[in-house]
Amino acid sequence: MSDKAILEINGSKHEFPLVRGTENETAINIKTLRSDTGGITTIDPGYKNTGACESSITFLDGEKGILRYRGYSIEELAEKADFLEVVYLLIFGNLPTQEQLDKFHTDIKAKSIVDDDVKKILDAFPKTAHPMGVLSSLTSALTAFNPTSVNVDSEEDMYNTVVKILGKFPVLVAWTMRKKQGLPLDYGDNSLGYVENVLKMMFRKPNEEYVQNEILVNALDKLLILHADHEQNCSTSTVRIVGSSHAGLFASLSAGISALWGPLHGGANQAVLEMLEAIKADDGDTKKYMAKAKDKNDSFRLMGFGHRVYKNFDPRARIIKKAADEVLGDLGVEDPILDIAKGLEKEALEDQYFVDRKLYPNVDFYSGIIYRAMGIPTEMFTVMFALGRLPGWIAQWREMRLRKEPIGRPRQMYIGETLREFKSINKR
Ligand code: CMC
Repeated sequence: MSDKAILEINGSKHEFPLVRGTENETAINIKTLRSDTGGITTIDPGYKNTGACESSITFLDGEKGILRYRGYSIEELAEKADFLEVVYLLIFGNLPTQEQLDKFHTDIKAKSIVDDDVKKILDAFPKTAHPMGVLSSLTSALTAFNPTSVNVDSEEDMYNTVVKILGKFPVLVAWTMRKKQGLPLDYGDNSLGYVENVLKMMFRKPNEEYVQNEILVNALDKLLILHADHEQNCSTSTVRIVGSSHAGLFASLSAGISALWGPLHGGANQAVLEMLEAIKADDGDTKKYMAKAKDKNDSFRLMGFGHRVYKNFDPRARIIKKAADEVLGDLGVEDPILDIAKGLEKEALEDQYFVDRKLYPNVDFYSGIIYRAMGIPTEMFTVMFALGRLPGWIAQWREMRLRKEPIGRPRQMYIGETLREFKSINKR
């Protein structure tokens, strides 16, 4: 293959180098497009064809259904690693030794106290507030309570910021849920593993001893691993672009949480469950919802189906579907919603509309069923996604800052009015 692309505009030829990634992905480097062509730009709504950065964190091949973190397949990580190892891997590039992992965990625990005054902010929210809005606000508020800016050139400073947010974020996650349920806000238990601690912080009742359930610990561990990174999706790009202005990590994460909230992104896990509930209430009439999803005059979409990048299958969805069966079986939960989901999936996979558009179940299709079986309220599903995605956001922010990427600032094609003369108000 040639190592350049030639663009011809009105008879003038312009050459651009091709760049290749380690998995032989090819991109045209158009860095000099505007200067070479006298200001011509590209238009690519939704950035469907635009690579915003070079990254060595996550590899994704949507045609083949491949997802790898730092070179390790998601299937192997979900089976063999635990979440904290994956967190370390994503952020620092390699799997930790036992010693590195122990130190990492100790450092995270040492930073896990959230200033008690943050509770006052939480108290000001009505109980009806959506937990994602609350989580985004509290994450942003952490900046005020930890005002020193990070010196990204200092490895130690970077490390301290990373362990700080990894320690405090699960506390905020638990508090958003407990506040909604009217439970007292307390802190974790430093004698526990990272995921065990999250569960205890979320579910501990003030009048009972909390007993760990291995099934829940393993299920949550796996779900968090599956959500931990997904290259340049909407929330991750948001974190990178906000961070590119040199806004701090907490502010960048807060913006990422807001991006994740939307139903086309992480909010889909809540929307899937609500959709399945609606189908159940409608006597399980999946055909009706299939017809709605295909009707161009109806804005309804089959939630949990389709993906910008996966045009074959989402490997995370395969793992989660299997896990849903196992977790519900292990917990002895019989949920008719799981049968509706399986029926809906089968219908969609055989339907020409979905086949033609290469629409497959995505990570959100079955995850809510597991969260529900674990006793997590529906409105918290996207918060759980955020907890899983946290290491990915941190890794991407860190990479962007270490690579000294320029501020993110896209161009546009102006299609508004040309110059107009101002008319005073009495002449309009
Ligand atoms: N139900 C019905 N039709 C759909 C769906 C769906 N879920 N998804 C895409 N389509 C159709 C869409 O109408 C369009 O049809 P046509 O070509 O006739 O106009 C075609 O498929 C291509 O869709 P698109 O909107 O151009 O594709 P996209 O890459 O911009 O959107 C998506 C990807 C995930 C936003 C979209 O598939 C969707 O809205 N899915 C439902 C929401 C969802 O499950 N989101 C979670 C994504 S995975 C977790 C995450 O990373 O956040």
